[in-house]
Amino acid sequence: YGAGLAGVVPKVPVDFATLEARALAALPPSVRDYVQGGCGDEHTQRTNAEAFRHWGMTPRMMVDCETRDLSVRLCGLTLPSPVFMAPIGVTGLCTPDGHGDLAAARAAAETGVPLVASTLSNDPLEAVAAASGATPALFQLYTPKDRDLAASLVARAEGAGYKAIVVTLDTWVTGWRPRDLNTGNFPQLRGAVLANYFSDPVFRAQLAVPPEQDPAAAIRQWMGVFGKVLTWDDMPWLRALTSLPLILKGICHPDDARRAIDAGADAIYCSNHGGRQANGGIAAIDLLPDIVAAAGGTPVLFDSGIRSGTDVVKALALGATAVGIGRPYSYGLALDGAAGCAHVLRCILAEADLLMAVNGWPTIAAVRKAGARRLTA
Ligand code: FNR
Repeated sequence: YGAGLAGVVPKVPVDFATLEARALAALPPSVRDYVQGGCGDEHTQRTNAEAFRHWGMTPRMMVDCETRDLSVRLCGLTLPSPVFMAPIGVTGLCTPDGHGDLAAARAAAETGVPLVASTLSNDPLEAVAAASGATPALFQLYTPKDRDLAASLVARAEGAGYKAIVVTLDTWVTGWRPRDLNTGNFPQLRGAVLANYFSDPVFRAQLAVPPEQDPAAAIRQWMGVFGKVLTWDDMPWLRALTSLPLILKGICHPDDARRAIDAGADAIYCSNHGGRQANGGIAAIDLLPDIVAAAGGTPVLFDSGIRSGTDVVKALALGATAVGIGRPYSYGLALDGAAGCAHVLRCILAEADLLMAVNGWPTIAAVRKAGARRLTA
């Protein structure tokens, strides 16, 4: 902020609209469609972001806010701020060197904002954990059909020092994404290095030749094992897979939140995958209050539509324990690698912090107590 006042023009824009426009201009068209695109006519995706406008917050005056504490507790961790990077697969597409996951992890190390590392990363999960430095990392699991492969990925994540397993429930099959379909562009299928699979001993044992010799055959094999539809009957198995905290991502219905907690989930992750998986849904932020009420004190992570620090504060006011940044950090990576990603996170945090200062909320507890009011039906 001070640098801006001193006339310094940042390399990466500080607001989402300019950031997105610049990043989209910089990315190859196929990657642009993959990152920016969503399901169907992208109504849910647009609604996710627009819905924040019909929630409003009321400032309080005469409160000592000169110092603020943005830290939160989540699954045994104390995080310096209530923000994390949501898992984004094949992030390597966003950086010229193909190592976007490592760049995001370096941004995590720099900012203290944890990365939820995707199963579909272009860098092995061990390297991503190492690049996160002292910042805790979480591992996102797309549960493969093969239980031994799932167990292997989770065991590797535990061994690499990840602090929680985030199981994504809504993507055992890819949603209807016209942009990718019209261009025949599924970047994860075309020559991408799916490093976690390619480096996995259980996966490698299923291949006739190593993925380094025949990547196309490895991708075909991966397509065959990628997604298992999970049911509540799988929950005891899933719970027994790890002693780490277990977080279920994609919970949008209060009954599912209650059931997940009853079945042993340590936290709920309310998300509609940024509108990439199902169109015709309700904006995720509008679902959050019911999920928080159903969770009854169990932590609730949230993403889908966060574009600014103000959005972060609104999600916290509506009861989220921690808030996930998705597409914005990909755009930061696209414009300036790890530095661009860190810049985007810092801008979002700075805006949230300033808003709390101006509104008389010195802590996240104060934000939550203040709440947000729905302005329109
Ligand atoms: C995602 N998301 C995602 N989620 C997940 O659990 N595993 C993954 O590998 C991916 N991959 C992925 C790729 C891309 C390009 C995007 C944009 C998103 C979903 C992600 O974690 C998060 O839920 C959404 O990004 C939130 O929506 P917004 O805020 O980015 O619109």
